[in-house]
Amino acid sequence: MHTRYTLTRRRLLVGMAHAALAASAITEAAAATEGLPRVTVTRDPNCGCCIAWVEHMRASGFAVEVVEIDDVVPLKVKLGVPEALMSCHTSQVGSYVIEGHVPADAVKRLLAEHPDAAGIAVAGMPIGSPGMEIKGEAPRPYEVVIFASGRQNVFARYRGIFRI
Ligand code: CU
Ligand code: CU
Repeated sequence: MHTRYTLTRRRLLVGMAHAALAASAITEAAAATEGLPRVTVTRDPNCGCCIAWVEHMRASGFAVEVVEIDDVVPLKVKLGVPEALMSCHTSQVGSYVIEGHVPADAVKRLLAEHPDAAGIAVAGMPIGSPGMEIKGEAPRPYEVVIFASGRQNVFARYRGIFRI
């Protein structure tokens, strides 16, 4: 009985934490709409997870323009995305390339810090990264990598939309 009570209470607390996070996300989105550069996303129209990522970016305050193209790889190559970091969609914001399911939080940090780099990427499609949430599957930790010609470094580590 005691165990059951504890579980229920924990669930309630987790639910409350989620509600608080959602509220702060909305406030942040409203505040951020002005002043954030537009994001242009190039995607394969047959891929669905990119749209989920676009929604994540919009919810985080970015204006997003979507371009659909059958093969995104030539654009990735042109923009200097290293092969090992390639994902599905490729985005451009300001002078930077954003490859794959990068959290909006990391994009905002990139824009604020403005490092000398070509862009940031999340290689592949880690489960739980924005747009890659799978019901019943726990988010896995993943890296956001910052890259420029000939160099790659870890920019941040995340699990889901949370920095770890
Ligand atoms: Cu994807
Ligand atoms: Cu996709």
